[in-house]
Formats: sequence, C-alpha cells, structure tokens
Amino acid sequence: MTYTFQDIKDYEQFIKAFHSLSGLDLNFYKETQMKRRINNFISIRGYAGNYTGFLKALSQDSQLYDAFFKHLTINVTQFFRDDKLWGTLREKIIPELNKKRAPLKFWSAGCSAGQEAYTIASIMAEYFPDTTFSILGTDIDVNVLKQAKEGIYEERDFASTPRPVLDKYFTLVNRKYQVKDILKKNITFKEQNLLTDHFEKGMDLIACRNVVIYFTDEAKDILYQKFADSLNPRGFLFTGSTEHIFGKTHLNLKSVSSFFYQK
Ligand SMILES: C[S@@+](CC[C@H](N)C(=O)[O-])C[C@H]1O[C@@H](n2cnc3c(N)ncnc32)[C@H](O)[C@@H]1O
Repeated sequence: MTYTFQDIKDYEQFIKAFHSLSGLDLNFYKETQMKRRINNFISIRGYAGNYTGFLKALSQDSQLYDAFFKHLTINVTQFFRDDKLWGTLREKIIPELNKKRAPLKFWSAGCSAGQEAYTIASIMAEYFPDTTFSILGTDIDVNVLKQAKEGIYEERDFASTPRPVLDKYFTLVNRKYQVKDILKKNITFKEQNLLTDHFEKGMDLIACRNVVIYFTDEAKDILYQKFADSLNPRGFLFTGSTEHIFGKTHLNLKSVSSFFYQK
C-alpha cells in the first residue's frame, strides 16, 4: 500500500500518521521516553526535524521500517532473565499449580525472540516431566517471532542459563545454539498487540515482563484488567523485576511473592 503524507509538523501528527502506517498506536506509550527514542532514531538516520520525509522513507523502505519498529519495541531479553525469580517459579508457583489441574496453560506475553517461553519449557521438561502443558508466546514484532519459531540463539543469550540446561536442550550448530524439539513441541508463537487485541481465557500463568515499561498508566490499567480476566482462578501473573501492582484491589490479584500475583 502506498501512503501519502501531508506536511507533518509535530510529534502528535507524526504518531497519528505512524498509526495509520503501522497499526501501532503510540498514544498508549509514555510520551517523553517515546519522543526521545523516536527523535534520536530520526536524527541518526539523517531526518532531524523532517517527520514528513522520514515517514515517506518508512513507507518505502522495509529495512528502515523494520529497524525503526525494533527500536521502538525494544526486544532485549535473555534465557532465565532474573534467575532467582525462575527459582521461585520452579519451587513455589508450579508446584502450587500442579496440585490443581492439568494441562497447564502458560503465556509469555511480549515474548520477544522466545527466550522466556523456552525458559518455561525447560523448567517443565527438567522438573515436571509428568505434567502436561502448553505455552503461548506472543509479541507485536513479527521479526522477533520469526527467530522465536526458528529457535536459534547466540551464546550471549545464555549468560544466566545453567550449563546443564544449555547442554541438554540445545544443539550447537555453526557456533549458534538450536533449541531441541522437546522444548519446541508445546509452544505456539503468534503475533498480537497487547493493547488492542483479544486475549485467550483459561491461563494458569501469564509472564508479562519488561514489556509495560513504556506504557502509560492508563494503558497498564487496561492491560492488567485484561490479564486478570484471562487467568483461571488461582492462576498467576509474573511481572518484570521493576514492575509492581500496588493498590489495585479491583483486579483481585494478591501478591504471593516478589513479582508474582495470584488471582
Ligand atoms: C524487552 S522485551 C521483553 C521480553 C521478555 N518478556 C523479557 O522479559 O525478557 C519487550 C517486548 O515487548 C514487545 N512489545 C512492546 N509493545 C507491545 C505490544 N503493544 N504488544 C505486544 N508486544 C509488545 C516488544 O516487541 C518486545 O519484544
């Protein structure tokens, strides 16, 4: 599709035009941080002060578009990111879920290139081999989802990964690590915008970590309500290690351990 742009004078007009080009509504993201990131990118690419020219270039150059989208969505992640919290998941949360029902339904919301989803799969394979489960991994960025489906990673992605897990569940191919089918078989990756799309119900654990940092407070409120509705009774929300949900009694989520909330 070809887009034509009127003369775009300010940030407000820019995000409106970008919304129609990409489907991503940046009004849900904190303005100060987003504006800084966008203006940085625009000036590095030689379009300082020229929103119109930049948007035109975005609509014509898919590499520029992908690089900009990646810059906005910030895909940084790792296997076993914040390793202590994965210990809590293994020792406390999954045993609690295991008492209740199977198959368990996990969701890595904002999964980036899949490291979080495969971390959950490796814990299940290693410590709960008899429990049946499925994992959904979703993200707004189709390029990271491509990598998630391929399951090929660099050594640096494993800085927090226990060595035996790396050796057992990944194969070294051309100096990269390919995830084995035993971890892949229970995972589905799909594109989803957490701010606008429909959520599946019946989740037992939703991990949404390091995704909402740039969302406005209003966007976070709506999102947490949708997560609460998507969880089974006694299911858990697992947040990032700077993300607290305080004073939101209407959500019916109580803190059971740092960064774990139970419905
Ligand atoms: C920093 S990564 C976090 C990955 C992983 N959860 C972790 O904690 O390591 C943030 C991810 O959120 C995704 N994201 C940002 N806005 C989103 C939205 N509106 N809907 C779905 N995913 C989004 C980005 O594409 C990115 O892959």
